[in-house]
Amino acid sequence: MRQVTSAQDAGRGGDRPGSGKPMISAARIKRRVRELGREISEVYADIDTPLVMVVILKGATVFAADLLRSLSIPAELEFVRPTRNRSGAAQRGRLRLAHMVAGSLVGRHVLLVTDIVDSGITVNTVANRIGRLGPASLRIATLLDRKAHREVEVQIDFCGFVIPDRFVIGYGIDHAGLYRELPDLHSLK
Ligand code: IMP
Ligand code: MG
Repeated sequence: MRQVTSAQDAGRGGDRPGSGKPMISAARIKRRVRELGREISEVYADIDTPLVMVVILKGATVFAADLLRSLSIPAELEFVRPTRNRSGAAQRGRLRLAHMVAGSLVGRHVLLVTDIVDSGITVNTVANRIGRLGPASLRIATLLDRKAHREVEVQIDFCGFVIPDRFVIGYGIDHAGLYRELPDLHSLK
């Protein structure tokens, strides 16, 4: 069935975002994610419980799925789902967690996995919340680091790529809910 919403139209035809030269190709992402997997496996080689990967929904799902399969250590999967309040003057922009991890993190080694660190507020807020749940350690892995608009300091332990000040889509990362299926990363003009 032909859908006619403007968002769908934006995804069709020759000027579809993602039809041009990628910012970072799927092949390059694959190589880098494998390296990260090796790095992470080395850092956590001696822990005596499985690593807990806490994935920030939705943008980090594709990255996390590949990263998970690049690990040579046991790992569990948990998810958090931050949402931003769009209404109510006092609450505007305030981040809340629509879903929090299901299992206990007490004494566990936690790796927070995110798609992109921009202002740093999302990952920082989630890290603070996770930190209160008593993990033995907490580190952050991000596919992308865009430093141009950082508002809060974030200590990134594992980073795929540092990128310039461009909005990106693809490899799980969306614009208005679309383009997550693109295998490469593209900048949106
Ligand atoms: P921060 O809270 O400003 O660091 O923003 C991080 C979140 O904003 C990411 O997890 C993404 O969901 C979203 N985001 C930031 N930059 C981009 C982008 O270039 N493309 C798509 N989503 C983005
Ligand atoms: Mg988004």
